[in-house]
Amino acid sequence: MIVLGIETSCDETAVALVRDDRTILAHLVLSQLKEHAAFGGVVPEIAARAHLTHLDRLIKAAMTDANLSFDDLDGVAATCGPGLIGGVMVGMMAGKAISAAKNIPFVAVNHLEAHVLTARLTHDIAFPYLVLLVSGGHTQILIAHDIGTYQRIGTTLDDAVGECFDKSAKMMGLPHPGGVEIEKMARNCVDPEQACRRFPLPRPLHGRAGCDFSFSGLKTAVRDHISRLPDGALQRADIADLCCALEITIADIVQDRCRQAMDIFKQNSTGRTLVVCGGVAANQTLRHSLKNLCDQQDMDLVAPSPALCSDNGAMIAWTGIERLKRGLSDPLDVPAKPRWPLDPLAEPKQGAGIKA
Ligand code: KG4
Ligand code: ZN
Repeated sequence: MIVLGIETSCDETAVALVRDDRTILAHLVLSQLKEHAAFGGVVPEIAARAHLTHLDRLIKAAMTDANLSFDDLDGVAATCGPGLIGGVMVGMMAGKAISAAKNIPFVAVNHLEAHVLTARLTHDIAFPYLVLLVSGGHTQILIAHDIGTYQRIGTTLDDAVGECFDKSAKMMGLPHPGGVEIEKMARNCVDPEQACRRFPLPRPLHGRAGCDFSFSGLKTAVRDHISRLPDGALQRADIADLCCALEITIADIVQDRCRQAMDIFKQNSTGRTLVVCGGVAANQTLRHSLKNLCDQQDMDLVAPSPALCSDNGAMIAWTGIERLKRGLSDPLDVPAKPRWPLDPLAEPKQGAGIKA
């Protein structure tokens, strides 16, 4: 089975072709970084227009890369939410058009489910597994029971962790996406322990019961540290220290919340795998800290390669394959959804809005 996957929910136009034996036949990601650079973040209207400009060409290029024709496709999968609705519509309509023209099934993919299932594309893992989903728009801990069945046991109460990275980076004058830049700058820090003493940062909810997150206080503390530095342009060494302290603090917070989640998971299932996914899962300090935790807790850590952690088309195509294999496809009048929680039964969290 070969499925075309289309991802346009944020600022990456991404297309991939994946076969059900887990071979990625084509994988193209066009980032819109330049288009949004002047604004210091993603502008929804600009994103939607850029997807529209580039998507057709990218699909054609992916087909050429894989040496396939549309007749070789067994299905087409496109992100239908959650995300920036203008962009989502562009990818969804392209997918539906191919499905109608070639009379092949269409799969409406939940972008979050695609992040969660990427680990089954890259590794041979079975349900149930524990998932830490850390992206620019979401920070959640879930138990993946099966395709389409997810139990949210933790979420952010305010900002997503990627948002905390991005907003902190912006305050330091670093470009978008901030997480990547913070990781790069932190590598220039000569003494991480000294950096953490120099820039002490709070660890909201650390040690508390449950596994929810809060990052807004951390972001404010970063701003306070910056405001206390001498006037004028921030020195490179200051930024390196602050980035390093922030990265270590975030890794600590996430480790603490995952430790709590593991207790809950182990009480409820025999699964012993923690999957980390979403754009922030590319962060090496975070991965290290999760690996240490898994070693202590006798669990396996599964972390897809950084290229498959950030938004991509392969995760969408793979979700299409997983669903089609179960006989699941969607009608062509399925709507785009700006909000689409993985666990619709989970209690809403006011401060997090659609991120919960
Ligand atoms: O999953 P993703 O590509 O898009 C969303 O669905 O949100 O995640 C993007 C987020 C951004 O906040 C970006 O700063 C963060 O992932 N990110 C990182 C790293 N690479 C991307 N954060 C920390 N370290 C990284 N290496
Ligand atoms: Zn994402």
